[in-house]
Amino acid sequence: MQTLRITLCAAAMTVAFAANAAEVEVLHWWTSGGEAKAAGELKKMLEAKGDKWKDFAVAGGAGENAMTALKTRVVSGNPPAAAQIKGPAIQEWGDEGVLASLDDVAKADGWDKVLPKVVIDTMKYKGHYVAAPVNVHRVNWLWVNPELLKKVNAKAPTTWDEFFKTAEALQKAGIQPVAYGGQPWQDSTVFETVALGVGGVDFYKKAFISLDQNTLKSATMVKVLETYKKIKPFTDKNAAGREWNLATSMVINGKAAMQFMGDWAKGEFLAAGKVPGKDFLCVAAPGTANAYTFNIDSFAMFKLANKDAVKGQNDLASTLVSPQFQEIFNLNKGSIPVRLGADMSKFDECGKQSAKDFAADNKSGTLVPSFAHGMAMHSATQGAIYDVVSQFWNDDNMTAKSAADKLATAAKTK
Ligand code: BGC
Repeated sequence: MQTLRITLCAAAMTVAFAANAAEVEVLHWWTSGGEAKAAGELKKMLEAKGDKWKDFAVAGGAGENAMTALKTRVVSGNPPAAAQIKGPAIQEWGDEGVLASLDDVAKADGWDKVLPKVVIDTMKYKGHYVAAPVNVHRVNWLWVNPELLKKVNAKAPTTWDEFFKTAEALQKAGIQPVAYGGQPWQDSTVFETVALGVGGVDFYKKAFISLDQNTLKSATMVKVLETYKKIKPFTDKNAAGREWNLATSMVINGKAAMQFMGDWAKGEFLAAGKVPGKDFLCVAAPGTANAYTFNIDSFAMFKLANKDAVKGQNDLASTLVSPQFQEIFNLNKGSIPVRLGADMSKFDECGKQSAKDFAADNKSGTLVPSFAHGMAMHSATQGAIYDVVSQFWNDDNMTAKSAADKLATAAKTK
């Protein structure tokens, strides 16, 4: 009898706990070493609030695969509680009428006061918060293995001339100059960095924000495309299809000297125990020291009927913007906190540089959204531009002039 009562009691407690413990299914694409470590911190903090993290990880850099998986789930009427959705795509999902309001959490936690305006505008749909921001990634970085550069007496290049001279010297010395991953999003990541470095901020804005036809077809764009393609001979023959983190490990392991990539690459160096300034260098990509391509990760929440699930979503949103989470997550992820005036004392030199430049470039109007990472344009336009950039990279018979014309046509895709 006694045993039965204890068992029943325990069962009742389990039920009571289950009713309060919301299961929060979170779709993301953070599966590399550094990314998974950072995502692990989020899971820990959410579970500390008594919720249950249900992992919906879809591998694939920049989230192309994750977005396909998300569409399938939403179309079948079974959306996850939260999904990593960024930039203008938040508005596209808002138009579908499937996103839940986060206004209560935002009000309670004072988001309007602690987030930069550019971020607030992106997180809101028709004046209501529907997404919570996580971080700011800088895209226009060059990651360098200093040991390899030392072998050819070179410093980290700051101009394109220096970059190509260094690449040639490395190649002559039998060192692989560039670690490259030939996937559409990576092609465009490198391409937009070249566009910023060669064309400058105004050119970048006209080409990828205004989608100005004349700029897209201009002589400057031809020069940008030619410079981008000039990198190809310095990549290896196995670059096609390579994941970005495998390219980063080439730099980590001394198999290649440099990689153009956003600062999620730093997460890989750190996860491998490498020290910035000693084992690896982070420098602004050639010609881009006075500009900043930003990429803000965020999570949008989907409308769900279950009340417990809503509690879980609110807990998640509140966690994401909290100072504690912003610090621990971004220390692992390679990005910087999105909160204004965040304490950067625990961050390394790359993180401090990024925060300093973000503020300075915000002031001087040289902060630009990364089109390759879904920050600048409609997803359909982005996809069409991706296609042209990758076609140009892969087809050695395509001229830069014809690629520029194709870019202009692609920019009309809606
Ligand atoms: C995301 C990063 C992610 C990277 C590689 C970017 O678009 O913003 O969080 O680490 O893709 O997957």
